[in-house]
Amino acid sequence: MRGFKRCIVDVAATALLRQVADDLELDVADRRKRVDLEEAVATARRCKPEHLLARMTEREVKQVCEAVGIDPKGRKNGLINRLLDKPPSKDTGQSRRTPKASHPQAVSYQSVLGTVPAMNDKPASQSTLVLSEPAAESTTVERYEFEPIKGYPMLNWLGKRPYTSTQYYPAQLKEVHGEELDGWRNKIFWGDNLQVMSHLLKKFRGKFDLIYIDPPFDSKAVYTKKIKSNGQKHNSDSSSFEEKQYSDMWMNDAFLQFIYERISIMRELLSDTGTLTLHCDPHKVHHLRCVMDEVFGESNFLNEIIWSYRRWPSNSKNFQEMHDNLLWYAKNRNSDRVFNKEYEEASESYMKRFGGKTQILDEESGTRKITSDLDTKGMPRRDVWDISIIAGVGSERTGYPTQKPEKLIDRIIRSCTNPGELVLDCFMGSGTTQVVSMKLGRRFIGADINLGAIQTTTKRLVKTAADLSKKKLDTTVNCYTGFEVYNVNHYDIFRNPAQAKDLLIEALEIQKLEMATVFDGEKDGRMVKIMPVNRIATRADLNELIAGFDYKAWDRRRNESLTRPVEKILLVCMGHEPDLKAQLQKAVEPYRIDVQVVDILRDKANLEFRRDSEAKVTVKKGELVIERFYPMNLLQKLSLQKEAVEDWRELVESVLIDWNYDGAVLQPAVVDVPDKNELVQGRYPVPVDAGTIRVKITDLLSESWEGGLGNG
Ligand SMILES: C[S@@+](CC[C@H](N)C(=O)[O-])C[C@H]1O[C@@H](n2cnc3c(N)ncnc32)[C@H](O)[C@@H]1O
Repeated sequence: MRGFKRCIVDVAATALLRQVADDLELDVADRRKRVDLEEAVATARRCKPEHLLARMTEREVKQVCEAVGIDPKGRKNGLINRLLDKPPSKDTGQSRRTPKASHPQAVSYQSVLGTVPAMNDKPASQSTLVLSEPAAESTTVERYEFEPIKGYPMLNWLGKRPYTSTQYYPAQLKEVHGEELDGWRNKIFWGDNLQVMSHLLKKFRGKFDLIYIDPPFDSKAVYTKKIKSNGQKHNSDSSSFEEKQYSDMWMNDAFLQFIYERISIMRELLSDTGTLTLHCDPHKVHHLRCVMDEVFGESNFLNEIIWSYRRWPSNSKNFQEMHDNLLWYAKNRNSDRVFNKEYEEASESYMKRFGGKTQILDEESGTRKITSDLDTKGMPRRDVWDISIIAGVGSERTGYPTQKPEKLIDRIIRSCTNPGELVLDCFMGSGTTQVVSMKLGRRFIGADINLGAIQTTTKRLVKTAADLSKKKLDTTVNCYTGFEVYNVNHYDIFRNPAQAKDLLIEALEIQKLEMATVFDGEKDGRMVKIMPVNRIATRADLNELIAGFDYKAWDRRRNESLTRPVEKILLVCMGHEPDLKAQLQKAVEPYRIDVQVVDILRDKANLEFRRDSEAKVTVKKGELVIERFYPMNLLQKLSLQKEAVEDWRELVESVLIDWNYDGAVLQPAVVDVPDKNELVQGRYPVPVDAGTIRVKITDLLSESWEGGLGNG
């Protein structure tokens, strides 16, 4: 006699069984063998029949109905209810079970429930118990049973995979600014932070005293920055446009896996006394807290800080959403971690009642009763912080979207670290954490995937370092003002991943799809998926695809022809694991798919994705002169012809010059970063000891022209 769940497993596609086994991390003797997958799924108590049924196609659910002798007429959800013996949403007045005793392979549902309890994972809550009281009429009630609660609650999501190992990714040093102090120079990395952190593990495992992150939190928005030419000349309507910086839109539960992997590796980077502050908002805080609990342990939760602010109210039927949430966790709560107590003003009533004096503990009574002679410092700071957001025209504003106020980050860094300690923010954005760390004499590392963030941060850090060297306010605190800029991986093609997809779609002449699917478009009869850009595509990157395929349609196509592949797929990547194609084909067995992989670094290396900028730089009478500069992509966006550029400086964000370039790392002696609405100089005196000169001109899009010239 087969059990109810066995009947479901018999019908389920191998791909589904494998997916379930992966999701629930089941022990499977050999994942390639269907028989082993069936065994693992059928015997796993965590895998409930309703979960399997929900992920099956309607046709498969009908097959299950037939197998257990239930009328297979109707739609999927109704059939599942019938199978699980749940009341239908509209009462039909009919018996919910219609056993078909004559069906050749039918197993009676009644008998499955009644006679094979060990095989039956169907929750008892759904079986019916007939009471004999009161005697006259029988009363039907539902019986509820509960599994004992084990362990701690865990958030589950589609495609959840443990993250337990990574590999080392090399980094290339590109720029050096300022000097070392105590053998240290701060570092910022351009790259996907998972790879940057994998790189950091080698030297910085267990070394960070504070990690603050302000990641995208699935806000379903695409964040842009307004790009506007610097001077007066191009101040027409077309002199500004919105440039995409990063996108915060995710398919299914990909966001949770994204953050889970990164938090796991951050925990490894934290020192035993270190803490992590995760900045998010009320829409995602409940999920993120579960993820944090899972990775850090519930007992290492320290607090949730509410950052409360005011902004223009919105017209909504809701209380105004004017706070963010900061989840604060310790690597080890019981360690001797830093906490520098801060105070807020004591209340008026306190000041009145105790004359502004500190209350101290009366040891005898154990209550705070004694008024001391000391003036009160105020009240220890609460976990609700009222701090203004950055004003639209505030001096702090960089124009980078979602920039956070320095005051907020200052409070976190001051309270959780001491001078000289090491801070990481790998969702750096405009570099607020890095700037505040520099001002407070903390050492720091930062990372961002968007080149615009790297340029904005570099500019801010250069300016902060210059200001600090002028002020030298607090001589007791050493400020680490030198910093290095690194690339992790190959980042020459796409400076901005948010735009990479669009560029590839255009360059490869891919037809965009009308409907939202897991694919990005169609080309020559193949469905196209653009894999993550700027890094090698791995097996893990296929999960989103595997979870999102339209298996229903595939069933239909398989029924039409057993020999024809159910889908023709084109994967576009920038490097890939050698067996990527085979991995995808294996994962969806028994469906047959035709997969083609295009590696744009190798197969399409001659594709033109962007136009190089042009510049003319000369040395005349002891002066380096930038005579012309045409940032071609920027000009295109501004709808400007080269000839229309009257003053190239209006299109430029910074000029860096290294007078003695070593051929690899730019170490600029001239850092010409003008203030808002000011222009770079464009002419620079050449020092007598200049050798090989290297010039880097960065435009308003953060794209750079780099070129060299010899002196003499
Ligand atoms: C909310 S913003 C951070 C803003 C920052 N706190 C500030 O004050 O400017 C999030 C940043 O995360 C970056 N980001 C998103 N995914 C990333 C990834 N995988 N690796 C590195 N940075 C990433 C985005 O480019 C964006 O700059």
